[in-house]
Amino acid sequence: MFGIDILHEEHENIRIFTKYVRQLCAQMMEGKEIEKDVLVNCVDFMKNYADIHHHGKEEEILFKVMLDNLGPIANKMVNMGMMIEHNIGRYHVDSLDKVVKSLGEEVTVQQKLDIATHALAYADLLLRHLEKENTVLYPFAVRNLSEELMNKVNEESKRFEEEGAKKGISRYVEWLHSVYQEEEA
Ligand SMILES: [Fe+2]
Ligand SMILES: [Fe+2]
Repeated sequence: MFGIDILHEEHENIRIFTKYVRQLCAQMMEGKEIEKDVLVNCVDFMKNYADIHHHGKEEEILFKVMLDNLGPIANKMVNMGMMIEHNIGRYHVDSLDKVVKSLGEEVTVQQKLDIATHALAYADLLLRHLEKENTVLYPFAVRNLSEELMNKVNEESKRFEEEGAKKGISRYVEWLHSVYQEEEA
């Protein structure tokens, strides 16, 4: 199931990214200076990998097929649940982006508060969101979509990935692995 597998793979990268964000915020609270470039890279990952690439694929392909074919339960899960969370995530990314763009030589305490507020809220939201998709929404789709519809999801996802590859989407995963390594449990 290429379409679902690739979403799971991206969730794993987003989960690792949330840990990196929490680590950065913890270091900031301990008094370490936060570099603007580091935050610019984080906003770039949030916007272009997590939102445009991952949420974009969910919204344009899987959610669309579910909404068109799986009735009121799918409608409730997608429109009253997942889409609302995607939009709250966008609010936090836009808010963080504004703070980052406003940073000068010295980062003020107020700016640090705004960075922590939006970065941590985003990390918490995304972590819970991807857990719900992994355990409820994706299994619901797998159980209920016909083979024909799942093939459609797979084909469209492959095309989406080809477009992503042309735009160099793999650089986000490479960047993430270069800045954060998860410790062995
Ligand atoms: Fe989602
Ligand atoms: Fe997702």
